[in-house]
Amino acid sequence: MDNPSVSDAVYDGLMRELKQLEESNPSLISPDSPTQRVGAKPLAGFKKVTHSSRMLSLNDVFNREDVEAWIKRTDKLAPGRTHEFYANLKMDGLACALIYQNGVLERAITRGDGFVGEDVTTNVRTIKSVPLSLRNNGKNSRFLNGRTEVRGEIVMLKTDFEALNKQRELDGLPVFANPRNLAAGTIRQLDPKLVAARPLQFRAYDIIRNNPTEVTTFSSGAECLQSLGITAISPADVFTSIDEVMNFVDHWETNRHDLPFNTDGLVVKLNDRKLYAELGVVGKNPRAAVAYKYPAEEATTTLKDIVISIGRTGAATPVALFDPVVVAGTTVQHASLHNADEIERKDIRRGDTVVIFKAGDIIPQIDRVVLELRPSGVKRFHMETELKLQYPDMEFIRPTGEAVYRVKGASGPLLLKRSVQHFASKGALDIDTLGEKNVSALVEAGLVKDLADIYTLTKAQVEALDRFADISSEKLIAGVQKTIPPPLARFIYALGIRHVGTQTAIDLANHFKRLDSVGSASLDELRTVNGIGDVVAESILLWFDERDNQELLAKFRRLGVWPLEVKTVGGKLSGKKFVITGSLQTMGRDIAAEKIRALGGTFQSSLGKDTDYLVVGANVGASKLSKATKLGTNQITETEMLKLLQF
Ligand code: IVH
Repeated sequence: MDNPSVSDAVYDGLMRELKQLEESNPSLISPDSPTQRVGAKPLAGFKKVTHSSRMLSLNDVFNREDVEAWIKRTDKLAPGRTHEFYANLKMDGLACALIYQNGVLERAITRGDGFVGEDVTTNVRTIKSVPLSLRNNGKNSRFLNGRTEVRGEIVMLKTDFEALNKQRELDGLPVFANPRNLAAGTIRQLDPKLVAARPLQFRAYDIIRNNPTEVTTFSSGAECLQSLGITAISPADVFTSIDEVMNFVDHWETNRHDLPFNTDGLVVKLNDRKLYAELGVVGKNPRAAVAYKYPAEEATTTLKDIVISIGRTGAATPVALFDPVVVAGTTVQHASLHNADEIERKDIRRGDTVVIFKAGDIIPQIDRVVLELRPSGVKRFHMETELKLQYPDMEFIRPTGEAVYRVKGASGPLLLKRSVQHFASKGALDIDTLGEKNVSALVEAGLVKDLADIYTLTKAQVEALDRFADISSEKLIAGVQKTIPPPLARFIYALGIRHVGTQTAIDLANHFKRLDSVGSASLDELRTVNGIGDVVAESILLWFDERDNQELLAKFRRLGVWPLEVKTVGGKLSGKKFVITGSLQTMGRDIAAEKIRALGGTFQSSLGKDTDYLVVGANVGASKLSKATKLGTNQITETEMLKLLQF
């Protein structure tokens, strides 16, 4: 109990004395002598032993609803009797049954398949927290008569595990992956001396007597165990409502890292053992208990791709895309790899199985590669080669002393000017007062530091610049303000997301209806949009994932510049498919497409059997028309189209 009554030196001295005594009087050696903790000769193998009663497993639950459903089920089978609960932490170790005969440890059996386990008595004897004889404190002397079985977990505490691994590292030995594997591996060692050298611990969760009325509740069982000198699993407590149970669950979810052992959840049982037995077993699991599992904090997945994303400052950041996986309660499918050095250090390659965790519990990160699972022949990731491949039309440099590659010459202003021009361009928000020269002047004067800044410009600010006289500054600001609220598709296009052209922007707008929904869509959702493939979907995902971009969107929203939701109008043109040929007089083809879509119609790029209307503009080649005639497509003029577009 972490509270030894004598010092280590005294303990060692007594042990020496006992050893000498036993050596000269071998007949005095009893099986529960502390000298017998370390068996003399290695075991040849493990004997199979049948358990007195099956060692069961537990059903998993993951949230309050699951707990409620479980209680409802048990309540139905035993109305009104199921409202006292015993909950304790679930220790991640290896299950073991200890058999005491008249208070002396006779046997230790692993769980095995639940029915038959392996006799690991010699090894378990080396575990200090397994008493070789039960303590008699006068109160519980009945447990010292006949058979007492104690069930529990063999574990290694975190600090012991770390110290052991540190020592192994110093000794040049391979380190162990985690305490559970180490404990399990150790117990199955054939040499008990080796087991004795590893600081294992035993923690009990059950005490079983032939006469079940001797222990009526799990909570009293835990008290008996303690009094017999066996450490029961703790923290543990008795509760009488779901709220109380959930408080305990929540408390340990937050604080479990402070526990001395690893845990992946806790166990909740009906405290009344008679009722527990009455409710029986389904499959391998008792009806009257569940394991509440906390979300895994680490998970493995396969790395599908490493794509490079260019931030607004021109920095090239490699990003890992992997199969969606749940980590600490949320599904993640991508993680920043920071820079080329990081990839090299962790040697991360496409096709690798990687371990994902959440840094600071929020940001997904790749912790390491599971090298054993690397497919053969996968190549190292080479940043410069990848940059050429993914951005053939750009040049990159890696400034000395820096870890990141940047777009050459693209110190902030150049990229910014380009993106503001794109934002204001015809297919985007179409702000004709924001041509190249005006944009340059505004950026150079420091009035525009990001896209959203164009909406904050005041007449006084603009007028103060050489280029702008009274009138033109007014015109400029009016031109900008006129775009509020921006149409969703145009706004998406204006943001300058790589691979998102006008058509994709329109498709996204029509599919998702709101900008937030585009931003929160998963890779799979994005892929379901007609015309959006892997590359485009990834690029959209990455864009919305960038901190800078999220801040930019937040700024737009603060400034009241936010695209309206796309309303599916009860479909005046719903189900109707349009093709436009030749040039239109009153509007561009993309605007016409936008209007058709806004009314529920579909805009097609080429004539097909299913096309309903062919809008014939000016300068149309004869071949287009003859095809339409052949197919019997309804041919209409631009004026007729305009009529259809009117509400
Ligand atoms: S009670 C029906 N309590 O988890 C078995 N088990 O998934 C009821 N375990 O086999 C066991 N901590 O090896 C119980 N506090 C705890 C536990 C615990 C770990 C293990 C045990 C059991 C397995 C069930």
